[in-house]
Amino acid sequence: MGAASGGGDTTEERAATPAAAAPPPAGDRPPVVQFTNVSKTYANGLTAIRDITFTVDDRSDHGEFVSILGPSGCGKSTILRLIAGLRPQHPATTGTVLVGGKPVDGPGSDRGMVFQDYTAFDHLTVLDNIAFGLECRGVGLKERRDQAREWIGRVGLNVDKDAEKYPHELSGGMRQRVAIARSLILHPRIILMDEPFGALDPGTRYNMQDLLVSLWRHLQATVFFITHSIEEAVYLGDRVFVMSPSPGTILKQVPVPPPDRPAKDMQREPEFLDIVFGLRTALDQLEVAAVAQRAGGKS
Ligand SMILES: Nc1ncnc2c1ncn2[C@@H]1O[C@H](COP(=O)(O)OP(=O)(O)OP(=O)(O)O)[C@@H](O)[C@H]1O
Ligand SMILES: [Mg+2]
Repeated sequence: MGAASGGGDTTEERAATPAAAAPPPAGDRPPVVQFTNVSKTYANGLTAIRDITFTVDDRSDHGEFVSILGPSGCGKSTILRLIAGLRPQHPATTGTVLVGGKPVDGPGSDRGMVFQDYTAFDHLTVLDNIAFGLECRGVGLKERRDQAREWIGRVGLNVDKDAEKYPHELSGGMRQRVAIARSLILHPRIILMDEPFGALDPGTRYNMQDLLVSLWRHLQATVFFITHSIEEAVYLGDRVFVMSPSPGTILKQVPVPPPDRPAKDMQREPEFLDIVFGLRTALDQLEVAAVAQRAGGKS
């Protein structure tokens, strides 16, 4: 999703921001996320990622959408966990991970996560699941429920029919909509998504991709999106990271065009399929090299 797609101004937010608190110009702001020579070796001695370096700039008017592709076990989730600060007692082994110019020392509400497994509390209704983060922030009952109702609509659920349902009464696609609303209601500046649509059927997946594009445009957040689908990575991303097999490094950073048409249309177009084909060839070659390496051959 490039500049063209994210060109809308954050007028509402600017109107609400006093002039004195206006953010400094983009060039003066630290990158949203910056990895410098980051490696991570777990306690069992396994090196999951090696020498990862990348920068995602703070572009204020629109966040960048970064898709991450790579073979299973190459360290994609490890990268997301380091950004999220989920295990602050186990930071990067070497190198630096900066978020907003500061080392990550734990989770924060500036970063929201959405996983494949539809994270939600089973004992809470859709409405209360979505309002949960606001409750933790101390937002009053009426205000948080009003906002949650708004988000129910925004993620394509029905306020009248779905608000009082429990997660077990929902389809996978609906539960993932709840998980997205739960996270985005807090307006994170960075959205970390780990194979969020991996368990959905193709039709639902297209719908969720379109939904994500429209929410991303609304929030202007930076997104890191892990997927095993090359089509999904190319459709959603501004930039696609292609990772090597374990221990993962970033082999390529491929800029791709923004999703300015519905997912199911754009993903059939020849130009789109050419990019996908190029990436698929590169990934297939990586797999072959990885197999040869494991077998003791030269890669
Ligand atoms: N807490 C941990 N302790 C030890 N090893 C770990 C830990 N977490 C992950 N690993 C290992 O690190 C490597 C990278 O794991 P990671 O989950 O980041 O990969 P991934 O690219 O997300 O894989 P997948 O596509 O299967 O989700 C794997 O070999 C995994 O077994
Ligand atoms: Mg993973």
